[in-house]
Amino acid sequence: MKSASSGLKIIDVVSDTGQVLGSLQAITADDLKDDFLLNRLCEWRRSAKHGFLTVFEPSAESTLYYLENISLPDPGRILFIVRDASSRPIGNIGLCNIAAGEAELDNVLRGEPAPAPLFMKYVIEAVLKFAFEDLGVQKVVLNVLSGNDSAIKSYLRVGFEVVRTQKLLRTDTDDGFKLTPSGEPWKDGEGLPGLVLMQIDDASFRQRTHAAA
Ligand SMILES: CC(C)(COP(=O)(O)OP(=O)(O)OC[C@H]1O[C@@H](n2cnc3c(N)ncnc32)[C@H](O)[C@@H]1OP(=O)(O)O)[C@@H](O)C(=O)NCCC(=O)NCCS
Repeated sequence: MKSASSGLKIIDVVSDTGQVLGSLQAITADDLKDDFLLNRLCEWRRSAKHGFLTVFEPSAESTLYYLENISLPDPGRILFIVRDASSRPIGNIGLCNIAAGEAELDNVLRGEPAPAPLFMKYVIEAVLKFAFEDLGVQKVVLNVLSGNDSAIKSYLRVGFEVVRTQKLLRTDTDDGFKLTPSGEPWKDGEGLPGLVLMQIDDASFRQRTHAAA
């Protein structure tokens, strides 16, 4: 398997009909000087905070800290800025826990209006193509909150399948709370949402994209 950093490049976001709708650009240390971009990342995370396991009040400082100390130094992570065809930042998407055979899709977020119908579907497909073809993983997994219907719908549309749903435990923090999987199965109506594990493998992704071409 190739390392995440070996594949750092600009990736096209392409529609089913072959139209280039935008691009994915891996964030690098140079981007830490881009205050506009840091502000967009911070605002997007703030407005979508209930879609994620850790709910907190993001700031420009915490965004910079996350990128500088957690995201960029980790060879098993890659975070892309999603841009439209005129290079306007639209959102972000990432891979983490990149290891032999497997990677996890994370930080999926559309922060601005989509430039085209199903834009995020094509964004997710572009990341999967990169993971399977450039990184050489065989499987991509993701975790999503059970109540996040729009995200689950997008993931199913791309071909992810549900593996299991776990119960979550809540821990309050200074500026929000953190949800942690308990390992126990989740039942609907339990109060807190569950954590849905989804996955797609290389063979089924190739089959779907081949069928769509
Ligand atoms: C998850 C997320 C990225 C999905 O993005 P999305 O734009 O909803 O995804 P899709 O590209 O699959 O499009 C979904 C819908 O928007 C419609 N749409 C989007 N842009 C459109 C446009 N420009 N014109 C017409 N329709 C449009 C699509 O047709 C589709 O409609 P449908 O679901 O009723 O069939 C987005 O909901 C998000 O950022 N959520 C907040 C963060 C979050 O929760 N992330 C997931 C963490 S696990």
